[in-house]
Amino acid sequence: MTPPIPKSFVKGFVPTLNNRGFMAETLDEISKSFVAYAAQADRPVLDIGCAYGVATLPALAAGARVVACDMEQGHIDILMEKTPPAERARLECRVASLPEVDFPHETFNAILCSRLLHFLSGADIETSISKMRDWLAPGGKAFLIADTPYTGPWKSNAAVYEEKKRQGDTWPGLIDRFADFLPPGAAAIGHPEFLNPLDPDILRTVCRNAGFAVEKAVFLDGLVSRPGAAKPEKAHAGLIAVKK
Ligand SMILES: C[S@@+](CC[C@H](N)C(=O)[O-])C[C@H]1O[C@@H](n2cnc3c(N)ncnc32)[C@H](O)[C@@H]1O
Repeated sequence: MTPPIPKSFVKGFVPTLNNRGFMAETLDEISKSFVAYAAQADRPVLDIGCAYGVATLPALAAGARVVACDMEQGHIDILMEKTPPAERARLECRVASLPEVDFPHETFNAILCSRLLHFLSGADIETSISKMRDWLAPGGKAFLIADTPYTGPWKSNAAVYEEKKRQGDTWPGLIDRFADFLPPGAAAIGHPEFLNPLDPDILRTVCRNAGFAVEKAVFLDGLVSRPGAAKPEKAHAGLIAVKK
């Protein structure tokens, strides 16, 4: 049976079913670029870490053929239920995880991976980006978004990240024990053991090392989650890479 979509308790975000943060309810500039690109793609596009379909549904509505992939079956069940019947033939779903998942060589014109990569170790990010390059057709684009050290409960660690970055650490945002940043009383079980927040420089380096040309690499501000709160600056890192 399809699980109910959890209630949102942070404005603009819906909790995931598997303690992998929240799905945004709106698209940022990188995800909007993905949807616009997907609309004119002649091959399918991939939305990996799709959650309940914040980007998959607009891409389908724009006419794209979308492969939606997520590690959580419940997210996929909800997405399939939310997909208008007339668009279901253009949606293919897959329950699988990065970096293990695979797709055939040169399948996609575009790949969106939004706010997933910071759940992976450095080595797994490198493997995942190399695989994405393989899955893209020549000229295809990867649209990547990741949480940075300046958001979430781990932002209290931002000065440590900045110092490690100054010292040349490859993964300066890495938080070995995510449980240390959970709210008091929250059980660690089911949450990721570690978190690897990224910035535009890190994403750029990984993509160039994988053989991509980088079109754009920027910090993105987050959403204002309650009235009167300051805009969370540099909450996300966004990048568009092109397979040469
Ligand atoms: C923070 S949510 C982001 C959802 C949406 N893409 C967005 O930008 O709002 C992360 C999503 O990625 C999925 N996810 C996390 N790690 C994953 C992995 N290694 N492989 C596949 N999906 C993963 C989670 O299940 C969740 O749906």
